[in-house]
Amino acid sequence: MKIAVISDIHANALAFDKVMEDIEKFNPDKIFCLGDIILAGYNPNYVCNKIFELKEKYKENFEIIQGNTDKMVANCTAELIKKTKEAYSCMGYSLEEDVKITDKKYIDFVRNLPEKKLIELNNLKIELVHGSSRNQSENIYPNLSSKEVEQMVDLSPADLILCGHTHIPCGYSLENGKTVINVGSVGRSMTKDKMPVYLQLTIDKQGKFFVEHKTIKYDNELVSRHILARGFKHCEDLAKMYIAQ
Ligand SMILES: [Fe+2]
Repeated sequence: MKIAVISDIHANALAFDKVMEDIEKFNPDKIFCLGDIILAGYNPNYVCNKIFELKEKYKENFEIIQGNTDKMVANCTAELIKKTKEAYSCMGYSLEEDVKITDKKYIDFVRNLPEKKLIELNNLKIELVHGSSRNQSENIYPNLSSKEVEQMVDLSPADLILCGHTHIPCGYSLENGKTVINVGSVGRSMTKDKMPVYLQLTIDKQGKFFVEHKTIKYDNELVSRHILARGFKHCEDLAKMYIAQ
């Protein structure tokens, strides 16, 4: 059984299209999406419409959970915008604009998504989370100690925990027998080259699994210009993040 796992698309239409071209070649049985489909890109309605098309095409073989930025847009208040502007200026201004431009049906959709899901396939228990098993906004980065990661997934009943959120792919085989894989980001990759990353997961009949992070090349400079063209305050800071330094 082949599964494509995507996360953190962040309204980046071009990156999503390029990753989906590769996923179509992979020809998966299922697609899992680990949240943060919106905020900070340039075309949230296009991305959400594509998500709806995937739901329609894959039906029960498409799984999606909510990310922290989906929740921010869905439950946005003037207070949240103010706080976000203070903490992370360009993101606060993006949030203010994104709430205005994202179609209400898509905002309602992300508001009602679950924070995590437990799935059993071929006797393998898989948990889908955005940050960690205990917190939607917790960072599972590379180079953490096994002990730190074990604490983050301790309460999970799963053998395999799939997460996103940090936009940096990594993986851990823990002493408690669990495996944790951060699948990376489609739309706001924080890898050195800023290229989209997703995960190809293959599970055999005995529940043994194999994973491969796939990096996809795309025109990140064009996306950076799209972000700049949005014109909101400090959008140039956001635009810079798509370019390798
Ligand atoms: Fe994210």
